[in-house]
Amino acid sequence: MRVIGLMSGTSYDAIDAAAAELSLDGDSLVLEPLGLVSEPYDGELRAALAAALPPGTASVAEVCRLDTLIGQAFAAAAVRADRELCGGRAELVASHGQTVYHWAEAGRVRGTLQLGQPAWIAEATGLPVVADFRPRDIAAGGQGAPLVSLVDLLWLRGRPGTPVALNLGGIANLTAPDGTAFDTGPGCALIDAAAHDFSGGRLAYDVDGALAARGRVRAELLERLLAEPYYALPAPKTTGKELFHVGYLHEALARAGPLPAEDVVATLTRLTARTVADALRTVGATEVLASGGGTRNPVLMRLLGESLPGVAVRRSDELGLPSDAKEAYAFAVLGFLTAHGLPGTVPASTGARHASVLGSVTPGRNGPRLPAAAGAAPARLVLR
Ligand SMILES: Nc1ncnc2c1ncn2[C@@H]1O[C@H](COP(=O)(O)OP(=O)(O)O)[C@@H](O)[C@H]1O
Ligand SMILES: [Mg+2]
Repeated sequence: MRVIGLMSGTSYDAIDAAAAELSLDGDSLVLEPLGLVSEPYDGELRAALAAALPPGTASVAEVCRLDTLIGQAFAAAAVRADRELCGGRAELVASHGQTVYHWAEAGRVRGTLQLGQPAWIAEATGLPVVADFRPRDIAAGGQGAPLVSLVDLLWLRGRPGTPVALNLGGIANLTAPDGTAFDTGPGCALIDAAAHDFSGGRLAYDVDGALAARGRVRAELLERLLAEPYYALPAPKTTGKELFHVGYLHEALARAGPLPAEDVVATLTRLTARTVADALRTVGATEVLASGGGTRNPVLMRLLGESLPGVAVRRSDELGLPSDAKEAYAFAVLGFLTAHGLPGTVPASTGARHASVLGSVTPGRNGPRLPAAAGAAPARLVLR
């Protein structure tokens, strides 16, 4: 089955549309990557989204507007992926949507909201769309995240040692072979916020780690940031920009006094490397398979390597899974599983009472039928 996976993460930099040919072969799920198209959000929409996200607040009218505009932007990315990657023969779209709120209270997740109305995607492509992946796991007592863990576990099963999948997006998360999976804290979120702030909005992120490379780590600021209670919480745990947002950064900086931009970015880069490395140690990683935009920051990757002596830190590309597209491929897989009536969660990862078949389905031009019948749950993911 030819499936398009649509993803935009907490960095809301771009909509990633990855296409894959997926099939079940015995107990293997076979994934042939067909490629990625990445559509940056247009400036106006990105600014509207930024204003709506925490610490901002949005009216119901604004939520409606964003749901439509993001749905239309996702639809455009899906149309392009179908045309350029699938020869117009895609059969299913799996859309994560754009997370705008993850409602966590007293250590429990009680709701989550992803915008990007799937009707626009179904209308533009004619294809059935699986969307709203997270809420079902929350209804089953889970955190609704991390959902990529199922794909990570299938992908890394059978590798020697303790291979751990790490995604460095706005938030960083990992999956260990025993199913332990959690957000470690900020990936690029605070680095992005600082780069954006100090450049007066010119920079969306610290391009190639240039600022961090010129700065020096401020021990006092680092210690203060490391005192964040989230890092010490036991898994399962998830976080987001509800916590690690620009206001959080401002508060830490206000107490630190004026510092040069380079030093702040260097310190935040060290903070990510340090908290990610600490988390990797708690799960006993002997090998790290990293993905996400953060792998393009050479300073972050160097610091991470240095913090983990004896651990091989690789990009997922080395195993055939393109690091820029990994999360989008993962959602293509989750949509494929739903189309087969198969669960998309690992209760050990999300903390749910049981595994769930995920998502809501928006019918395509052929009605509510999904392009697949029941299948048996796969034991491994094979890349072709
Ligand atoms: N060349 C680069 N140098 C430094 N950081 C980069 C580079 N390219 C991407 N990034 C980082 O990756 C982030 C986007 O990563 P992505 O995996 O798309 O995250 P998300 O899933 O949160 O959208 C950017 O915000 C930026 O911090
Ligand atoms: Mg992104």
